[in-house]
Amino acid sequence: MKFNDLTESREKHNPNARPRTFQFQLDVGHDPRVTVDITGEIGGIAWKGIMFYSVRFTTHFRAAGKCLAAGIGLIILELTAGAQNSLPYAKWAPAQKDAVPSSGQLADPAIERRVESLLKQMTLQEKLGQLVQYGDAGYGVPEGKTPNGMPDPGKNPVSQVRIDAMQLAATGRIGSMLNVVGAQRTNAFQRAAVEKGRLHIPLLFGADILHGYRTIFPIPLGLAATFDPDLVKSLARMSAGEASTAGVRWFYSPMVDISRDPRWGRSQEGAGEDSYLGAAMARAYVRGYQGGDLSRSDSVAACVKHFAAYGAAEAGREYNTTDMSQSRLRQVYLPPYKAAIEAGAPTVMSAFNALNGVPSTANSFLLQDVLRSEWGFDGLVVSDYTAIKELQNHGIALDAAAATRKALLAGVDVDMMSHYYDTELPQLIRSKQVPMEAVNDAVRRVLRVKFALGLFEQPYAQGNEVTRAVPDHQPLVRKAAEESLVLLQNKLLDDGSRILPLTGKPRKIALIGPLADSANEMIGLYDSNSRDPDVVTVKDALEARAKLTGGSLLYAKGTEIATFSEDGFVAALQAAKQADLVVLALGESCEMSGEAGSRANLDMPGNQEKLLEEVASTGRPIVLLIFSGRPLVLTWAAQHIPAIMAVWFPGTEAGSAIARVLYGDIAPSGKLPMSFPRAVGQEPLYYNQFPTGRPPAHVDLTQPPTFDSRFISRYIDEPNDALFPFGYGLTYTTFAYSNVTVSRSAVPITEARRGGARKIVTATAAVKNTGDRPATEVVQCYVRNLGASLEQSVRSLEGFKRLTLEPGESKLVFFDLGFPELSFYDNAGRQVIEPTNYTVWIGSSSLASEHASFDITP
Ligand code: BGC
Repeated sequence: MKFNDLTESREKHNPNARPRTFQFQLDVGHDPRVTVDITGEIGGIAWKGIMFYSVRFTTHFRAAGKCLAAGIGLIILELTAGAQNSLPYAKWAPAQKDAVPSSGQLADPAIERRVESLLKQMTLQEKLGQLVQYGDAGYGVPEGKTPNGMPDPGKNPVSQVRIDAMQLAATGRIGSMLNVVGAQRTNAFQRAAVEKGRLHIPLLFGADILHGYRTIFPIPLGLAATFDPDLVKSLARMSAGEASTAGVRWFYSPMVDISRDPRWGRSQEGAGEDSYLGAAMARAYVRGYQGGDLSRSDSVAACVKHFAAYGAAEAGREYNTTDMSQSRLRQVYLPPYKAAIEAGAPTVMSAFNALNGVPSTANSFLLQDVLRSEWGFDGLVVSDYTAIKELQNHGIALDAAAATRKALLAGVDVDMMSHYYDTELPQLIRSKQVPMEAVNDAVRRVLRVKFALGLFEQPYAQGNEVTRAVPDHQPLVRKAAEESLVLLQNKLLDDGSRILPLTGKPRKIALIGPLADSANEMIGLYDSNSRDPDVVTVKDALEARAKLTGGSLLYAKGTEIATFSEDGFVAALQAAKQADLVVLALGESCEMSGEAGSRANLDMPGNQEKLLEEVASTGRPIVLLIFSGRPLVLTWAAQHIPAIMAVWFPGTEAGSAIARVLYGDIAPSGKLPMSFPRAVGQEPLYYNQFPTGRPPAHVDLTQPPTFDSRFISRYIDEPNDALFPFGYGLTYTTFAYSNVTVSRSAVPITEARRGGARKIVTATAAVKNTGDRPATEVVQCYVRNLGASLEQSVRSLEGFKRLTLEPGESKLVFFDLGFPELSFYDNAGRQVIEPTNYTVWIGSSSLASEHASFDITP
């Protein structure tokens, strides 16, 4: 007999990534074996194992008999149990040499001293309290009910034990609360924690405030269409100021998941399909929320979510699995999270999805190796809602104890709503399956954030509470809404004119559609704190215009968002026939995207497309406004409707912004942050795809394939490209690009490899406003790397700038391309640059054609 294969199995959840279980294969030839799973406890150490008997072994060693065989089985069991339990807990792998603490404030030694001193005074129960988070569903409503009659979500989903958050706060057994807003509410809980709690540790109130608290700006996907990070930063600052007056000092935002598949409803919460744009937006939110100083009473801590790669959910189906190479993970999905951490985000939310087989909430590769070790993240990680419990559904934890242990040891500090950390950890600590030091470290991370926020000094809501949209904030949110609108089409009419902008004589306009006068839809799904009366609808704004310009407005709803009744068609068609122009406000309800809002179809819901077709048959010129939380399939509309504008969900000032752009007070400048497909079957469709070995170059994909044009990467029934691609958007003037050049034609690899090099090559273009009115262009710079050891995308965005030009004016635009822009990640996770050829395009969308090239030489 010999041990022929001793395999180390690295358990993913081990903080030190050390081997902790051993598998022995006993070479017993064809000897049948009997195995029995057993568990037990010796001296307080729990163990699990497999006892096996070898029949032949027993036969050969007849003298010792079964006792000897069983004895060998026991040795192996002890070894396994011992390996598991004697493992000393060490802190997370130390941050790598070049990783500076992500938040200077959290790393402050003064904070550290306060944390240590407080920690020493805490009982186990108080420590665990800091690691759990609940809502206040039970606050002031009958047991077991919420105000809308739903079962009380304050109940633990498994045990159905009702959480009395007030009682927990008063006894130091809760550290943070979710979606509790309003000064009265937050202060009530805070008083319990601070005045009654033994150690007076304040609560931290977190909330899903994604695009404004009371004054609402466009959904994040719409904001991404602005390509204006400075604006996003100002909006984030504004919303932090509003919400902090209601006691909220923690936003579960920014949501920075890259989404290349609009079937995934959460596309609306993020910045779309591109990681460069996504990273720019992520930074902007964090800087705005935190204002450079977390301890200011009008700052909130950002929570970057959902770590990681949640947006790659297979088939766009919510909560679904993601699976990808390291290279893709690091190249496409991680950059926005990294950018947010580098900008100082002190908290991260672990995602629901599994990545490469390991649920994010138990994924030590993500939470330790990447986040803490590589990026130097020194803040706290909160699980997503019941995500720790869901480890059981994922099938990687057999019970609550295993789920708790895996999540905590993987690096999740705070349990949102699973009710596991407070119930399971005491026994896990007693049995030494979770080292006390791991719990202490998690508590430290929570306390650090609370100290950095200044909560111990100012635990209560500060300033005059903002209870409705703030008039002074309206110009900013209106500007955001204006910049978010993307003009997709503005075709020449038969008389040589274009419908937009609506200048000239007073008009009789028919405004039709279920989204024309719905305040509630304008403010999106994550709007629970805003109030409908604050919202300006398209109808409100066009009515006001009509009064101002002497025109008139006829309004007909036409249909509901998602019904098939045509009762409203007659009135809508009548209105259209009486008018000289029709504005149609169609699209999705905001509830059709966002969490759990995945769709298998990307068309306009219900019978809206039929309404559109019938209104179009009146022959009236039509402007189509598309409200949505994602790209939709607009193929029929693109062929038949002269003017189309994507307007997302624009927020409180929706109507004013849309009217101002329609009437040309301001020219549209938005660009698509996600490609609009021709058909849902193209998804996931994104501009920066790989070329494949059979790219369809020089083939007209609008024609069915012939033998010569069939065996290439294509569909037989649809072109490959987007109907409206990433980066695309028109305005009321035209821009011409010329003289795209690069500062050098060759760069030695040794120079390019210097990791910190920010300016290896500078690319330049001349941009001219060739139309007759001023407008803002988003100038975009794309790069392709040919000849690398890994296949690279056909082009990728590596820079953008907003540029305002007067008619006839021309300016040079520069893009510095350094190591971050020219490198790529290999499958070992290294960021590398190789001696290859680069093409650089500068233009107005991902279709830019003006280009230059250079080499990185060996
Ligand atoms: C969502 C998160 C959100 C959390 C708290 C979860 O269901 O996935 O994005 O922050 O709930 O409301």
